[in-house]
Amino acid sequence: MTETLKGLLIGCGFFARNQLHGWSETNGAKIAAVCDLDAERARNYAAEFAIPAWHDTADVLSSGVFDFVDICTTMETHEELVALALRHRVPVIVQKPFAPDIATCRRIVANAAEAGVPVMVHENFRFQKIFRRIREILDSREIGEPTFGRLSWRNAIDVYSNQPYLLKTKRFMIMDVGIHMLDLARFLFGDAGDVSCFTQSVKQGLAGEDAATILLRHDNQVTSIVDVSYASHRFPNPFPQTLGEIEGRRGTIQILEGEVLLIHAGGKQRRETIKDDGRGWTSTPWTQIQDSVPRTQQHFIDTLLHGGGFETSAEDSLKTYALAEAAYRSAETGRVIDAKNL
Ligand SMILES: NC(=O)c1ccc[n+]([C@@H]2O[C@H](COP(=O)([O-])OP(=O)(O)OC[C@H]3O[C@@H](n4cnc5c(N)ncnc54)[C@H](O)[C@@H]3O)[C@@H](O)[C@H]2O)c1
Repeated sequence: MTETLKGLLIGCGFFARNQLHGWSETNGAKIAAVCDLDAERARNYAAEFAIPAWHDTADVLSSGVFDFVDICTTMETHEELVALALRHRVPVIVQKPFAPDIATCRRIVANAAEAGVPVMVHENFRFQKIFRRIREILDSREIGEPTFGRLSWRNAIDVYSNQPYLLKTKRFMIMDVGIHMLDLARFLFGDAGDVSCFTQSVKQGLAGEDAATILLRHDNQVTSIVDVSYASHRFPNPFPQTLGEIEGRRGTIQILEGEVLLIHAGGKQRRETIKDDGRGWTSTPWTQIQDSVPRTQQHFIDTLLHGGGFETSAEDSLKTYALAEAAYRSAETGRVIDAKNL
């Protein structure tokens, strides 16, 4: 019989709804309690998802009944909440962005290593089906060794209604979506060092940037461009698709709208349409993002139950975070920044 791990979800806000749906589909795990400083939010999600208990403080982690904790609060609370979990030796999955700055990320990683407690960052974009398929194609060597990639997220969704805190976030676009794209760039092309970046604040009145163009030099000499914008008025709006292309020594993969891959190799061309898993609770336009959540959570639980490493462990996520940090420093100084020597 498979063991079922009991989890506490902390932070019953906007994105937690997707995570609670996701947990209900994850084998080997169930959420035993939810928690929010706002008791009403905790109570409402407990009722909606038939969760047996709710709390208004994360101190409930000391009870000893939890096998893992899912932290779905915004980044400025992550250090304190992860520290609480580490004190009680409870494995953690924590939402991106990991923390507000790289020094805090490094402290969290060092504390987790000292405590010997596993910590994973909830980095769901690489768990989108389309990127798992692209990884398979790259591994098959069909297009040969990659030489160039472009990953592009440009749309005009009103992100501010669901996440009003983004209006006041000083490090906005690179931290909110750029970090997903930088993780994808590492997933597809490997680690990178040199980073250059320009940022823009297109919408009036924002505290931070809403567009960024980042150029990366990967260790294997792949050049990649990551560009992100919430101020791009394309029609139809491609949200939440990441589009772009990958060039290899023998072929190309284009990532087109409609979750279509156009693969050209060996003088032949074919299209693959990557369908989401058709979960009952997902809704347009969020489907592709929502669909990746249970796959991320399953990876976390499978690793806890059966061993192996998290793809996006806290330690690994430092490398992604360093690229984001380097992008900000490049935008500020106009220089190329080596993310491996920050
Ligand atoms: N991976 C993705 O695709 C994706 C998409 C959207 C948001 N996110 C991330 O998810 C995180 C949460 O975003 P959101 O929009 O749901 O935020 P939100 O503000 O809607 O919800 C956060 C909740 O956490 C609660 N909270 C804060 N501190 C707490 C504490 N110490 N103890 C208990 N509860 C506490 C707040 O009361 C709030 O209800 C962010 O880091 C965001 O970047 C990820």
